[in-house]
Amino acid sequence: MAAASRLWPLLAIAFGCAAGEASRARAGSQPRQLDAVAPGPELSEALLARVQESVAQQTRSALLRVLAERSPDLDEHLGGVSALAEDTARALGLDEHDVRLVRIAAELHDIGKSAIPDAILNKAGPLDADEWELMRRHTLIGERIVSAEPALLPVAKLVRWSHERFDGLGYPDGLAAEQIPLGARIVAVCDAYDAMLSDRVYRLGMSTAEALAELRRCTGTQFDPTVVEAFCSMRRELGAVAQAA
Ligand SMILES: [Fe+2]
Repeated sequence: MAAASRLWPLLAIAFGCAAGEASRARAGSQPRQLDAVAPGPELSEALLARVQESVAQQTRSALLRVLAERSPDLDEHLGGVSALAEDTARALGLDEHDVRLVRIAAELHDIGKSAIPDAILNKAGPLDADEWELMRRHTLIGERIVSAEPALLPVAKLVRWSHERFDGLGYPDGLAAEQIPLGARIVAVCDAYDAMLSDRVYRLGMSTAEALAELRRCTGTQFDPTVVEAFCSMRRELGAVAQAA
């Protein structure tokens, strides 16, 4: 019944106004109560899930559209990281619900960069200490942006902690190892790999072999060894499939 009461205002917005006005005009009568046609609890749960899914999808699309206009490179990066994160989550045996959450978190992990000044976001050279301080805030800003939509709340903390390190030297909270949710540890590995492959103004992107070697070099310090192992196996398998095709 709680789900029905949460769902009903959404359905009323969607169907109530237009249908109600038309039928009252035809019948010339008082407005009728809709209780008699209210969906039962099971239907309500299913509809609520679909409405929430739809709201989450539309919000994600709008946020990513804003970021794409601001920074096409960043938009491409988020697409790459989310595809890698989805595959890695599946390789680690997560169920489809959690795979979806990890994919969404990866898609939105840098959304807070939409609030970082261009002079820092697009700086050709290395950032100084003050600029880094500002840049690090993108995780907190991202969490705030994502938290504004209740349907996206389950991924808000994953966005916040997507730049933590396994050894506790990351940001914003300095969490270590299993203190960092697995979804955020997956995003961290996929984010770094995609960034390593990309060309920057001040350097060319690495080859896939070089990037995988770098992930292995940083396993246990920057990255979760279990996630790196699953990631590397997955990339090896994909490479083998590509070569065989
Ligand atoms: Fe990123």
